[in-house]
This record gives sequence, C-alpha cells and structure tokens, in this order.
Amino acid sequence: MYGSILDTIGSPLVQVDSPEGVTVAAKLESFNPGGSAKDRPAMQMIKTAEREGLIEPGDRLVEPTSGNTGIGLSLVCAARGYDLTIVMPAGKSKERQQIMAAYGAELELIEGDMTDARNRADELEAEGAIQLGQFDNPANPEAHYQTTGKEIIEQVGGREIDAFVAGVGTGGTLSGTGRRLREAFPDVEIIAVEPERNAILSTGEAGHDEFQGMGPGFVSENLDRDLIDRVETVRLEEAEAECRRLAREEGLLVGQSSGAMSVVSKQIARDIADPDLECPTPPRTFDEPMPEADGGAVVEDCPLVVTVFWDSGERYLSTGLFDLE
Ligand SMILES: Cc1ncc(COP(=O)(O)O)c(C=O)c1O
Repeated sequence: MYGSILDTIGSPLVQVDSPEGVTVAAKLESFNPGGSAKDRPAMQMIKTAEREGLIEPGDRLVEPTSGNTGIGLSLVCAARGYDLTIVMPAGKSKERQQIMAAYGAELELIEGDMTDARNRADELEAEGAIQLGQFDNPANPEAHYQTTGKEIIEQVGGREIDAFVAGVGTGGTLSGTGRRLREAFPDVEIIAVEPERNAILSTGEAGHDEFQGMGPGFVSENLDRDLIDRVETVRLEEAEAECRRLAREEGLLVGQSSGAMSVVSKQIARDIADPDLECPTPPRTFDEPMPEADGGAVVEDCPLVVTVFWDSGERYLSTGLFDLE
C-alpha cells in the first residue's frame, strides 16, 4: 500500500509497432496518477520549493500552462494543501480545464498564446502569488533525470538504447531524460521533435500550430540544446492520423504529441534497423512473454529506439481527434 497518491508516480515502458530488425518502445505516461508525464515535474518543483523554504502549504501558486502541467500541479497542490491559479490560452482542450477545476484549481483563461499566458502569470506573481516557472525551473528537467530517465534504464533490462526521441515543450523531458540516458549510453542519438508549422528550433522563427504540449513558440530555458543531435518536424494532421491508427491497431489511446513521437520514432527506427536480425514484434500471443535482454543474443543486438507518449487520447476527445473520418 502506498502512503500517498504522489507515491504512485511512474509509468511502464512498452514495445510498440516496430519495423523489422529494430525495437521501438514508448514510456506510457498516461499511467501517472494525473494522467501525464507532467506529474513528475509538478511534484519535483513543489518538493524542491518546499525544501528551499520558498513555499509552504496554504500558499497561493500560479502557473501558465497549456494543460498537462496544470493538471499535474492541481493534483499535487490538492494532495499537499496549496491554492493554485492556472493561466492558460482559452483555445486548449476543454477536458483539461474541467480536470483542473475538479482538483480545485482556479482557472484564468486568456485570449492569445502561451507568451500571453506567461505575461499574465507574471502579473499575478507581482501581486503576491508564487510562480514555479516550468520553463526555467531546474526542478523540471531534474524530475525527468531522477525518474523518467532512471526508470527507462531499469526497464530496458540491460539493452543498449540507440536513439531517444522527445518532443519539446518546456524541454524538461528531453533535457532531463536525455542527460540521464547519455550518461548511461554515451552514443545514444537524441532527436528533438517540434510541430512543422511552429518550428522555432529548426527555423529560428515561431509559427502557429494547434499542437497541445509541443512548440511553445519560443526556446525554453529548460531546453539543453547541446544534448540534441537532430531536430525533426511533424505535421499535426500526420500526428493525429497516427493517433487514430495507434488506437485502432494497437489499443493505445494517446494524444497528439504522442502520435508525433510514434511517426518520428518509426522513421529513426527504419534508419537504424538491422534486417538480418529477428527482433520480436507485437502483438505476441498471450502466453509469450517479452524476451528478456539476457534471454538471447538476438534481442540484445536489436537496435532500440525509446520515446515518450505523454498523455491519453481521452484528453483530446472534444477536439474531434478520434471522430470517424
Ligand atoms: C501532451 C504533451 N506533449 C509534450 C510535452 C512536452 O514536454 P516538455 O515540456 O517536457 O518538453 C508536453 C508538456 O507539457 C505535453 O503536455
């Protein structure tokens, strides 16, 4: 039995559809109690601020967020006894707003984008609220270094990771997980992903896109660009089509950015596949366990691409993402 809902943060690493001669595995972050990877930085930012004596239960916190961080913070604030105001662009999905409200957070919806949300949060901070600042708070990547990266290394069971594919919002996932994986596997290739129409890392210019969670329109301070070997872009339509395929063909209900990760991970996997190897591919029979890395040289030699599926497709139902074409 766990002592608190916060002790249940963590997720499984699951093999997904993989081209021949290579394995693709995704961290299914919807298993976290708040339903996304953002439970991790939310808890770490509050834990660190408490330890540094900056906040204590009963304080009012404020955060600009397009959704998942808001949900993670709402959960942690409810469990730890903080008041929370979330500032978010009005256009983001309705489900996210309802979930934050259910956890007791106050929502301030503003016209505009994440930059406008950040400006408004700064105003509330000037009025006395405490801002955790996921874009520049080192506790955000640290959470992924301490948990996501550590879990992945344990979960691959001794196999070498050849490539890590991560979309970029605050950059916390890529930077923290990437740093941990690079320490364990110095040759791992780290691939950043961003929306094709809002590709600031690739083009130096912000654009506009409906991708939720990726492509904030500026380069986050929490993004460690030195870790990145390559940047790939994905069109929203392609990512959403992949979400529908993942749900119908693999039983994986995930959101837009996860669809984008699947698209890019498969491209990378095809590039590094070794067609002479018989790598296990799902679906396997009910009685066939996942071969352990040390259970056979073949599996151990299969190139391995690891990625992150940030949240569940349930969070996107109102956007029409899964409506029949
Ligand atoms: C759905 C989704 N995808 C991707 C990301 C990007 O993660 P990070 O902020 O760690 O770069 C986020 C972050 O909020 C997200 O909510």
